[in-house]
Amino acid sequence: MLNKAANSKPAINRLVIIGLGLIGSSLAVAARELGLAGTVVGISRRSSTLELALERGIIDQACDSLKAIANDLDAGDMVVIGVPTLTVPAMLIECHELLSDCVTITDVASVKGSVVTAATNIYGRMPGQFVPGHPIAGSERSGVTAADSKLFEHHKVILTPTETTEFKHLEAVANLWIGVGAKVASMPVEEHDEILAATSHLPHFLAYSLVDTLASMEDKREIFRYAAGGFRDFTRIAASDPVMWRDIALANRASILSTLDSAMDNFKALRGAIDSGDEQYLMDVFTRARDARIHFGKLLENKSRQGSMTEKVINYQISPGGHARGVVRVPGDKSISHRSIMLGSLAIGMTEVTGFLEGEDSLATLQAFRDMGVTIEGPDEGRVVIHGVGLYGLKAPTKPLYMGNSGTSIRLLSGLLAGQAFDCELTGDASLSGRPMGRVAKPLALMGAKIETAEGGTPPLKIKGSQTLMPFHYEMPIASAQVKSCVLLAGLYVEGKTSVSEPAPTRDHTERMLNGFGYEVDVDNGIATLSGGGELRATRIDVPADISSAAFFMVAAAITPDSDITLLHVGVNPTRIGVINILRQMGAKISLSNKREIGGEPVADIRIEYAELKGIAIPEDQVPLAIDEFPVLFIAAACAEGVTTLTGAEELRVKESDRIQSMADGLNALGIDAQPTADGIRIVGGQLGSGRIVSHHDHRIAMAFSIAGLRAAGDIIVEDCNNVATSFPHFIAAAESVGLNINVEIVE
Ligand code: S3P
Repeated sequence: MLNKAANSKPAINRLVIIGLGLIGSSLAVAARELGLAGTVVGISRRSSTLELALERGIIDQACDSLKAIANDLDAGDMVVIGVPTLTVPAMLIECHELLSDCVTITDVASVKGSVVTAATNIYGRMPGQFVPGHPIAGSERSGVTAADSKLFEHHKVILTPTETTEFKHLEAVANLWIGVGAKVASMPVEEHDEILAATSHLPHFLAYSLVDTLASMEDKREIFRYAAGGFRDFTRIAASDPVMWRDIALANRASILSTLDSAMDNFKALRGAIDSGDEQYLMDVFTRARDARIHFGKLLENKSRQGSMTEKVINYQISPGGHARGVVRVPGDKSISHRSIMLGSLAIGMTEVTGFLEGEDSLATLQAFRDMGVTIEGPDEGRVVIHGVGLYGLKAPTKPLYMGNSGTSIRLLSGLLAGQAFDCELTGDASLSGRPMGRVAKPLALMGAKIETAEGGTPPLKIKGSQTLMPFHYEMPIASAQVKSCVLLAGLYVEGKTSVSEPAPTRDHTERMLNGFGYEVDVDNGIATLSGGGELRATRIDVPADISSAAFFMVAAAITPDSDITLLHVGVNPTRIGVINILRQMGAKISLSNKREIGGEPVADIRIEYAELKGIAIPEDQVPLAIDEFPVLFIAAACAEGVTTLTGAEELRVKESDRIQSMADGLNALGIDAQPTADGIRIVGGQLGSGRIVSHHDHRIAMAFSIAGLRAAGDIIVEDCNNVATSFPHFIAAAESVGLNINVEIVE
């Protein structure tokens, strides 16, 4: 908010900086270079520092004390206290004695609680003109010779205003930091000190302590000679200014002691594990830490690429004239990726998964199992290794499990969690929080589970542990693989049989994969049955490419003259090939080759060449087999000759968006006659025009309209495509590789 409120040009008359250390002198030189203040005044007790600062053009004017300039300062002037933390109170006393209350005062100390307490004591209350601040920037170098005008660019500055801080002073300080390229955030004083104790203060003390330990060893010269990259990386910050860090240690005592205590507990446990040879403990800690560090590295990478930690909205812009030719391997199957993590976690032993989809949805599942204590290595280029804990080895998560955008995660997990001995809560993003969960809550309750939804049957789901689940037969009222899988997974915890019958065949990855893990599931006449209490044995899983992602390129080739695309290693499970059946019926030229079975799932290469399409009445029995592919099939229908109708597909209204409405609106915006009905749509083929499309945060809507760009008369802009990453992380690269003219627009 501050970043927005304060983008007018800063108007500081005199900027007075007390203390020309790294931060003070860098701020001075940046403000001077960028013309953010009329005059930049530096105050230091040392004349040599002042001379150097003048000589190097860091300041305009030098003073040896605040007193020397205080009488000239008035509204529009600002004093920045840039001295070590424990010296700030002495400077505040001078400010109190010498400055009028119109002058803005701020500081840059790394601890805020001690500074705010000092100001309150000195002034009798927190003065409205004082804005406590802390730039999260710096280096192990110190002093005026280290001044760097770019030091604050893309770094955060935390301001900790209190109730009495006056807005005009807050705004002036925020503008100064924004002016030097920083991102301004604000938070309560206590929160700042706790966060900094953990993220900055603790690492410094660990580095000081490690170097000191090594330096006091007898043969230290030898040790340092052999100390390599790890030592250098870990200890860089031990070269920091000792006065500054002594002050921080004393000023933020309480928060630092509590983080040190937890670090010491961890150290002790690590020592114990090494002593007793506890391999599992060591693997758990190292894997968790490594993955957290990789995640953090990605955040940083993102930050330097985009200049900000805040996620930006992206639009796709597709221009006409593209083509659809080439050989593509799309990412791994989402449904199978989810299940590989779930069953791998519940198995005994180590499951290796290759081809895992590194999309946000399957990563949400992966994270949930890590949160329940499962050690999972990766993903590393699609390879994941899961150290299974057995059916009864999951641990209670310490916080609600966040499922993001993923319906499959929440619905399948609800079944599996209904059988655990602990309570837990499942939450999701805005889209998931509006989706129906009664369809899983109801059968689970009939089995004896205690499960609560929010009003309206939506997430969050609260599941009570330690319930006895009863043998159960469920006749599913809707054809849903998620509901079937949910009930079967709960059935693993039932003493006796659980069976599910479906009104129409739905994807059977759960049944196939359970068999792959050595757990018998009997499927007969549309009824899947298993007995609880067995054991899953770890296995290897090779996840085929996702036919739901391949579908975008199948339609791309089907609608674009002179096209020829081959999609490699695609899962062609009979419960998933509705898109092939429907496109073929519309006249598409599709051939399958290299058919094989991998880990219990049929796989093939799919070739599709351009052929004129005609409109059809889509057979209702194909609906569950193509349930995720309809958005892009509607694009095929818009490019076909004649009318295409879909019925019996009301499910589409409760996917990541209401896909019937989202697609009808988008097609209408492009000039196509598309009439939504309660359970489907009627589309009259025609010429796609240009226009802006609202994706409703739905990945498949965004990708479908990107493909439409191949046949549109002008540019198509698809708004808000961030969620494409839930199922197809490198969609843009794949689309470009076959010849789409597609660009990413970052929305400020
Ligand atoms: C899925 C089942 C389908 C599908 C979803 C994934 C699965 O949902 O739409 O993308 O992995 O089981 P329904 O079971 O709700 O039809």
